[in-house]
Amino acid sequence: MKTVFLDCSPKTKLSASGFVASMTGVFVSGNKKKMKLRTKADHEAVLKELEDADTVVFSMPLYVDGVPSHVLPFLQEMEKWCRDNNPGLRVYVIANNGFIEGRQNESLMQVMENFCIRSGIEWCGGLGIGGGVMMNVMRIMIMVFLGLTVLKLAISGVNTGVFPEMGYIYGFLEDLAVVLILGCGIITFDIWLASCINRKKAYGKHYTRIMLPSFVFIIFADIFFTIISILKGGIFRGWFSRKKPG
Ligand SMILES: Cc1cc2nc3c(=O)[nH]c(=O)nc-3n(C[C@H](O)[C@H](O)[C@H](O)COP(=O)(O)O)c2cc1C
Repeated sequence: MKTVFLDCSPKTKLSASGFVASMTGVFVSGNKKKMKLRTKADHEAVLKELEDADTVVFSMPLYVDGVPSHVLPFLQEMEKWCRDNNPGLRVYVIANNGFIEGRQNESLMQVMENFCIRSGIEWCGGLGIGGGVMMNVMRIMIMVFLGLTVLKLAISGVNTGVFPEMGYIYGFLEDLAVVLILGCGIITFDIWLASCINRKKAYGKHYTRIMLPSFVFIIFADIFFTIISILKGGIFRGWFSRKKPG
């Protein structure tokens, strides 16, 4: 069984879509291939990879309540390719969005289902994840914390001769526990999706989110995006921005 994971984020690295695709891949058995779908230049290679695939998993961000515009030309090309080649593919979708409610991905799922019907391939359902930006930030932070913990262990080992200093390890495990609790819905629904891929079963449509009450999420999101806006020169557009309007 061959499964192709398509990271449809336009980001070249550290995308939430790429992360969830990789996480799902961990639980999927058989031959797996992860590919980027960013520009027209990727289309040919992706279609070539789909020739002997059984399953394709589109992992994508939600843009303006729908499928990102750079993915649409690929869907048009793939629809034609499916009609010509009748590949008998099973299609799953993982969509993530910035707002906290995973259900915001419903319209994207409908577009992808219609695409499958028109292309004559099997729509097997999808997972919509709310709080995708936060999920992405959390997984990057936990890797940074892991690196810092290893560094602190090494320094304290050299300075004091005590190795390992358990306080640092407990501190990291606490951070990890917080991340796992906030991400438990995403992890559970993702493992379920992977098990459907393995069993060649329909998954249906399911929506999950970061396990944080919305009013707390909004406060964190406001602080995060205010900082990002200041750093990127966007809060008072034009005042801090290095970019001149074209
Ligand atoms: C142009 C654009 C449009 C977006 N539209 C929405 C939207 O309609 N609803 C939403 O919840 N998030 C929206 N987002 C946020 C993205 O879905 C979110 O940042 C996602 O986690 C990005 O995933 P990625 O890292 O895989 O690219 C939008 C982001 C961009 C850049």
